[in-house]
Amino acid sequence: MSAQIISGTEIAKAIRSELREHVANLKAQKGLVPGLAVVLVGEDPASQVYVRMKGKAADEAGIFSRQITLPAETPEDELLGVVEGLNADPQVHGILVQLPLPDHIDEQKILLAIDPRKDVDGFHPMNVGLLSTGATDVLAPCTPWGVIQMLLRTGNDPAGKHAVVVGRSNIVGRPMASLLLRKAVGGNATVTVAHSRTPDLPAVTRRADILIAAIGRANFITADMVKPGAVVIDVGVNRVDDDSDRGYHLAGDVAFDEVKEVAGSITPVPGGVGPMTIAMLLSNTVDAAERIHADG
Ligand code: GUN
Repeated sequence: MSAQIISGTEIAKAIRSELREHVANLKAQKGLVPGLAVVLVGEDPASQVYVRMKGKAADEAGIFSRQITLPAETPEDELLGVVEGLNADPQVHGILVQLPLPDHIDEQKILLAIDPRKDVDGFHPMNVGLLSTGATDVLAPCTPWGVIQMLLRTGNDPAGKHAVVVGRSNIVGRPMASLLLRKAVGGNATVTVAHSRTPDLPAVTRRADILIAAIGRANFITADMVKPGAVVIDVGVNRVDDDSDRGYHLAGDVAFDEVKEVAGSITPVPGGVGPMTIAMLLSNTVDAAERIHADG
């Protein structure tokens, strides 16, 4: 039997519509308008598209948004100055510096400069540390936080389940494991983190009730690696060359056509985890605004 398809597009749409209503209430009841600043350095075409999408999504939710575009040769000091300005700006509750940054800029130095309360990416070492020590009132990275929402909203609460995360990146794998482990809604799972150096990976992944693929290799998770009935979440977005006019198509980390015959539920690529990331960026911006507002 074929798996139930989990539509990230539909879930993200529902979250964005709930946020729109929530933002309208914040404005009416507290005079609070959440604000998001997105900083782009350079002219990477993919980053330009992402940044534009983030700004548009914020506008649609009623969130004030600012885009700051700087030339690729911007000195590190100047970017630090921009971040300091945004830290001090009372209209801005969320700051996102689009990655990757040009080579002459130390990414870690920039992430450290962002006020942790405005770190809607959840990449500041303070937020990384808080999340890994189980804090529940912390801004969590958008992609894994989106995965948790997808699980909860499809009746697949991770509590008491064995979740296997394949991948150990700072953006997905590690924070994913921290969220699943937390003593909190969306957590309380038994968690295994596997990666490219894990011996006999299929034996590990076959133990998963919830299998999260974040390795960055197209079609890496095959049907023999999946327990029948498992929930399979595909975080991968890989370009695969083909003969189309565009020259490539997008493929996930999961061999969708064969795995859907074994899994109980599965996310597609595109239309799975991808749309959730922006929805959770908006959600983090609203959370940040409410916390900053409450702290006065
Ligand atoms: N580049 C690609 N994805 C992301 C993201 O989630 N946050 C930031 N800041 N940069 C990115």
